[in-house]
Amino acid sequence: MKKDQFDFPRTKTGVPGLDEMISGGIPKGNLVVLSGDPGSGKTLFCWQYLYKGITDFNENGVLISLEEPEGSIIEGAKEFGWDMQKFVDQGKLRIVPIELYDFERLKNTVEENIQAISAQRCVIDPGVIFRLFFERELDARKKIVSLGKMLKKINCTSIVTNEITLDRERSLFGLEEYVADGVILLYHTKIRNKFVRSIAVIKMRNTSIAEELKPIKIDKNGLNVLINAKVFEDLK
Ligand SMILES: Nc1ncnc2c1ncn2[C@@H]1O[C@H](COP(=O)(O)OP(=O)(O)OP(=O)(O)O)[C@@H](O)[C@H]1O
Ligand SMILES: [Mg+2]
Repeated sequence: MKKDQFDFPRTKTGVPGLDEMISGGIPKGNLVVLSGDPGSGKTLFCWQYLYKGITDFNENGVLISLEEPEGSIIEGAKEFGWDMQKFVDQGKLRIVPIELYDFERLKNTVEENIQAISAQRCVIDPGVIFRLFFERELDARKKIVSLGKMLKKINCTSIVTNEITLDRERSLFGLEEYVADGVILLYHTKIRNKFVRSIAVIKMRNTSIAEELKPIKIDKNGLNVLINAKVFEDLK
């Protein structure tokens, strides 16, 4: 193995502990699918990725939102002490609620908004929108590939969320995961009489990844990976 094999420019996630699991960050311009149970923290992860992107790394961001209007996102983020409104006003963040219209328009909207503020980060939450656009899986796959290529061309590191039920192994991987450059899973699972939150990196192109599931903690400061802990150690 060449020493510099994984020496790519990387985008830091802003989630403490996670970058250590993925050789320092997501390779720049890559598309990552963030999958997880309902309430596992996908939306929180995305807000943190964009907010810390601006505060800690001086990288602008675009949030494409299907379900939530801009006002409720701004209100929700305040609970973690994140003033999104300030960054919207400063032109560092764009929150773009979209209707379910056609895919080409979605792609154009994404591209226009990224370029308007030279964003280096983009989030599409929830990414279930892709499924709704297409009847045939092959069509969906082609379109997602084309979205991924566009994002790569403009060098914007992007996260698309995907809601799944992790209990049902067979539905674990939707088509988005196969086309994406990376897949991160958030678990919120019942182990004996307790719910446990954890994170796993399933794939990340050109990156050496942590093979182990790590516990996560959500508190008033957001999401943290407890990189030195084991998921099951406090359950013994
Ligand atoms: N201060 C806090 N301390 C601990 N947990 C918190 C705190 N604030 C929020 N949470 C938890 O963080 C989680 C955030 O979930 P989030 O909405 O990001 O999940 P999601 O995966 O996007 O869900 P969905 O699939 O419904 O969109 C919730 O389960 C909530 O209970
Ligand atoms: Mg959500």
